[in-house]
Amino acid sequence: MLRKDMHEDNRRSWNAATDAHNSHKADQAAFFRAGGSTLYPDEIELLGDLKGKTLVHLQCNSGQDTLSIARLGATVTGVDISDSAISFAQQLSEDTGIAGQFIRSDVYDWFEQAAKQGKKFDVVLSSYGAIIWLSDIGVWAKGVASILKPGGKVVVLDFHPYPMIFGWDWKPEFSYFDGQKGQHFENGVGDYVAIAGEALTPSGYVEGTKDFINPHPGHEFNWSISEIITALVQAGLALKVFKEYPYFNGAKLFNDMREGEGNRYYPPDNMPSLPLMYGIVAEKDKGLGGGTMSMSRSFQWQLCE
Ligand SMILES: C[S@@+](CC[C@H](N)C(=O)[O-])C[C@H]1O[C@@H](n2cnc3c(N)ncnc32)[C@H](O)[C@@H]1O
Repeated sequence: MLRKDMHEDNRRSWNAATDAHNSHKADQAAFFRAGGSTLYPDEIELLGDLKGKTLVHLQCNSGQDTLSIARLGATVTGVDISDSAISFAQQLSEDTGIAGQFIRSDVYDWFEQAAKQGKKFDVVLSSYGAIIWLSDIGVWAKGVASILKPGGKVVVLDFHPYPMIFGWDWKPEFSYFDGQKGQHFENGVGDYVAIAGEALTPSGYVEGTKDFINPHPGHEFNWSISEIITALVQAGLALKVFKEYPYFNGAKLFNDMREGEGNRYYPPDNMPSLPLMYGIVAEKDKGLGGGTMSMSRSFQWQLCE
């Protein structure tokens, strides 16, 4: 069930958090002008060749990844509910000269608008902490399918819902199966950029906002992997790739995470490996423009080492 009231809380919470997060990032326009990119090899692999393609980045926050993707040859649109995030993204696009259209909207409202305007994209991307803010995964998946061109694909690369059962100190605290019910926090999005430091600030870390406590509540919906995949398949998309990764890119979401090569973070040494991120590629049918309800034969289940 869609919870627009909770999305509004999340909008206020993300406005406050986005200002805090960006306060820690040194001159981002200079970073991009010097050729910088905030992308990781994992999303680049799933996205494939983007030259000449249209791509919409759902829940793009301040547009750093969206503009990095534009550099790969796509014509990009970013959509996000946060006013601060979208004005930051628009400014960054202007300051760097990297073209991108940025739209402030609840993603569910935007799906309806885009459908009315007949907008269709080659690629839809949802990445890094996006799915957990969606109060109805089924409506979201249908929205995604509605804005894909025939033969177009959705790429999801996100934090795995399994480790989200843990608290900061790796003790199991939250149910894996509460996607619909959600988890509700008095002080919404925290300053995880300050905690991650240089791992999340490729343009350089500056102290910025200190001791940030979000004054707005936040609501998270930790959909399980099966709920996410089922929603996409039931929306008529054919699953092509499903991958699990034993690391977080650039994020120290829990205590004592071990840093590996390429800005990847693993559980502490005394813990076994866990799925920390997942990647999905699902395609819309080429011919009918609708798709089938079945999983594709080339569906791959891979564990990345
Ligand atoms: C962790 S960030 C995603 C980061 C992003 N992938 C990037 O490239 O930086 C989550 C984003 O989801 C946005 N968001 C949360 N609920 C939303 C909704 N209902 N509609 C649109 N955006 C939403 C937040 O404003 C926030 O910017």
